[in-house]
This record gives sequence, C-alpha cells and structure tokens, in this order.
Amino acid sequence: MEGSLKIRVGNVDFYYGPAQALYDVSLDVPARQVTALIGPSGCGKSTFLRLLNRMNELIPDTRLEGRVEIDGEDIYDNGTDVIELRRRVGMIFQKSNPFPMSVYENVAYGLRVNGMARDRGEIDRIVETTLRSAALWD
Ligand SMILES: Nc1ncnc2c1ncn2[C@@H]1O[C@H](COP(=O)(O)OP(=O)(O)OP(=O)(O)O)[C@@H](O)[C@H]1O
Ligand SMILES: [Mg+2]
Repeated sequence: MEGSLKIRVGNVDFYYGPAQALYDVSLDVPARQVTALIGPSGCGKSTFLRLLNRMNELIPDTRLEGRVEIDGEDIYDNGTDVIELRRRVGMIFQKSNPFPMSVYENVAYGLRVNGMARDRGEIDRIVETTLRSAALWD
C-alpha cells in the first residue's frame, strides 16, 4: 500500500540574522512512517525540525524562504493558527524541560489543558500508565 504524503518542504532557505543555516532544502515526508534526519553537529537538523511547527519564529531576527506544507496546507500562511499547529506538530527535545511543578502535574498537564480526561480518576490512571511505560513509576 502506498502511504500518503504528510509533509512537503520545498526549496527552503533559513537565516539567523545574516548567517544562512539551511540551503535550498526540499523533502517529502510520508505519513505513518518513521523518518530520521542524520548529519554532523551544526548541519541544521534542529533548525529544520523547528520549521515544522514555526518554533524558529520565537528566535529574533530569523528569516525563512521557501514553502512548508503539512497535510497539503502552507503552514506559513497568514491564516494559520500557530497554537493549533504546535498542538498537532509536537516535539521532544534531547534536553528535557519539565515545568516547575510535580512529576504528576507535568504528566497531567496536557490532559488538563486539552480537556482530554473526564475526571481525576482517569487522570490518575493515565499518569500511572504513562509513568510505568517510561519506567519512571517506581
Ligand atoms: N539560535 C540561533 N542563533 C544563531 N545561530 C544558530 C541558532 N541556532 C542554531 N544556529 C546555527 O545554525 C546552524 C545549524 O544549527 P542546528 O542547531 O540546527 O544544528 P544541528 O544539526 O541540530 O546540530 P546538533 O547535532 O549539534 O544538534 C549552526 O551553524 C548553528 O550555529
Ligand atoms: Mg540539534
């Protein structure tokens, strides 16, 4: 079965101030597959990934040229809801970044802000299952 296209990156150049970090990058990423980016330190992997949910915009004086489409939509379109985009395009960084609250509350946070659990009992169960599957419960 042929997989569908999830992400299409076309002719992307990216700049930190005057310094260009990405040069004419084009890449199609299929849905429902694992795609890995491999390359030496500083080659632009993290810069590229941060383009996919517009996190680079949080860095002052950066500039993008080219096109990034997810599910056929240009995510750099003026009409894009960036909060909704970042909810769909999640990222896990090499350095963890817990919020300054308990481990329980860190795990429960996403459930709470997205209204994904019916009651405290359900949050308790999901937090335990999640921590157990990450070998952190004990
Ligand atoms: N916030 C920033 N401001 C200015 N330049 C940056 C910034 N972040 C990255 N760069 C530069 O952009 C280039 C690409 O860096 P990037 O962090 O994307 O590489 P990487 O492939 O993720 O490296 P690593 O394997 O070390 O994580 C490097 O030259 C880096 O110095
Ligand atoms: Mg990196």
